[in-house]
Amino acid sequence: MAKQKITRVAQLKSATDFTEHLSAIGTDLPFKEHLSAPGKSSLGQSFQLKSGQIIGNRFCILPMEGWDGTTDGLPTENTKRRWHNFAISGAKLLWGCEAVAVCPDGRANPNQLMINEQNLQAFKDLYADLVSDHEKKFGATSDLLIGLQLTHSGRFAIPDRDRIRKPKTLYRHSLLDKKFNLPEDHKLMTDAEIDQLVDDFVKAASLAKEAGFQFVDVKHCHGYLGHEFLSAKTREGKYGGSLKNRMRFLTSVVEGIRATSNIPVAVRLSAFDFIPYKKNESNIGIPEEVNHAYTEAFGGDTKGTGIDISEVFEMLGYFEDLGIELVCITAGSPYYVPHIQRPAIFPPSDGYLPPEDPLVGVARQIQITDKVKKKFPKLVIVGSAYSYLQEWLPNVAEAVIDENGADFIGLGRMVLSYPEMPDDILKGNQLVRGSICRTFSDCTTAPRIGMISGCFPLDSYYKKMPEAAELKAYKKEARL
Ligand SMILES: Cc1cc2nc3c(=O)[nH]c(=O)nc-3n(C[C@H](O)[C@H](O)[C@H](O)COP(=O)(O)O)c2cc1C
Repeated sequence: MAKQKITRVAQLKSATDFTEHLSAIGTDLPFKEHLSAPGKSSLGQSFQLKSGQIIGNRFCILPMEGWDGTTDGLPTENTKRRWHNFAISGAKLLWGCEAVAVCPDGRANPNQLMINEQNLQAFKDLYADLVSDHEKKFGATSDLLIGLQLTHSGRFAIPDRDRIRKPKTLYRHSLLDKKFNLPEDHKLMTDAEIDQLVDDFVKAASLAKEAGFQFVDVKHCHGYLGHEFLSAKTREGKYGGSLKNRMRFLTSVVEGIRATSNIPVAVRLSAFDFIPYKKNESNIGIPEEVNHAYTEAFGGDTKGTGIDISEVFEMLGYFEDLGIELVCITAGSPYYVPHIQRPAIFPPSDGYLPPEDPLVGVARQIQITDKVKKKFPKLVIVGSAYSYLQEWLPNVAEAVIDENGADFIGLGRMVLSYPEMPDDILKGNQLVRGSICRTFSDCTTAPRIGMISGCFPLDSYYKKMPEAAELKAYKKEARL
């Protein structure tokens, strides 16, 4: 694939280089040239939830799945190693750890974790290991908060070993049905099936509580089912149409949880979305064309490449009544707009060359997160998409917290290549350059071709695996 000219972050050697580059590409980010001394940084300040629970610092590990469970939905050694790395990162908030399916047909891949009675002990062990691994390194665990992300993959479900997509959809989508080859007679989920799914989420939340987790994330992002509800304007019946109906899935799950386990509910939300992108003749991403107003992007404008946050604000306005305090802001979907969801210089195998400097994508998420935080000061807001900042991540992160643009800085891909980054930043240690994620996207390409995920280019554990050579050969062949 031919690469277009985008300045690599590693080439921006000084703070001035970085900020001048931001101006040159016409974007803006909070930035603190001189980081505070260890112990003085806002990133090290603790945070108190309404319940009185303290979270020891402002780093959060975002959910990162590895496509590496057993086909029964149990963790393997690879899964346990990834979770161990979350625990020893130094972050005091672990948002969900990874997407865990609440029922078999909701799995995004045949190796996704799944929570049910049979698997409960494994989740108890995972939780216990997180706490003891964290304790061994940092001592205190009373200021550590750990949630479990609950999901149904909806349109992107690949539940069985045959690896055939078995989509569960809520409405006829003007572009995605075709893009992902849905047959004309594909049946939408019925209201009764959704009612059953609500029960599955409620049950899964009870099991998560029994396993020890302190909250559950009812996932509403990245094109998966929870997110699809939010754009189901054309769906008839109680789960579609008005925003109240589109939120009925969430409100029903919350009510069910309140009446049973009463574990706190958090929401990871794609706060904006774009029209699906495709490759042009130079492999660069361009928006699909439509000759109608595009109304299927929740938090998007009707042109498909802009943001209209009004409905998102309306939705978040209900959260206090629903008792939802923790919200993690993310965007889009890795399946049809990866550049807005996980800004990267190298695309995954099913992606396209970046249509913009990836720093624009980082700034977009940071700016929207800031707007949400300012509008809803009582919500506890976690931001995403910081990994592409690379060397400059600490400078942006500290500025965001100083300016109250978020309460927590979420780290995704960076934790795969450089798990100790939060600890190093908090201690004022020099960053380990060789561990900094350069967004090669191998962690996405590998699962797209049926392999486990991991940081194949930088993590010696994955570098040594036969899968690393296989992936290299695949990329060579595909000219990626
Ligand atoms: C390999 C991989 C696995 C991911 N798994 C999940 C997941 O299980 N749940 C989720 O909500 N997001 C998941 N994400 C998205 C990340 O949490 C995060 O939003 C994204 O990578 C952008 O943040 P970053 O710039 O720090 O990587 C995943 C991303 C990658 C690359």
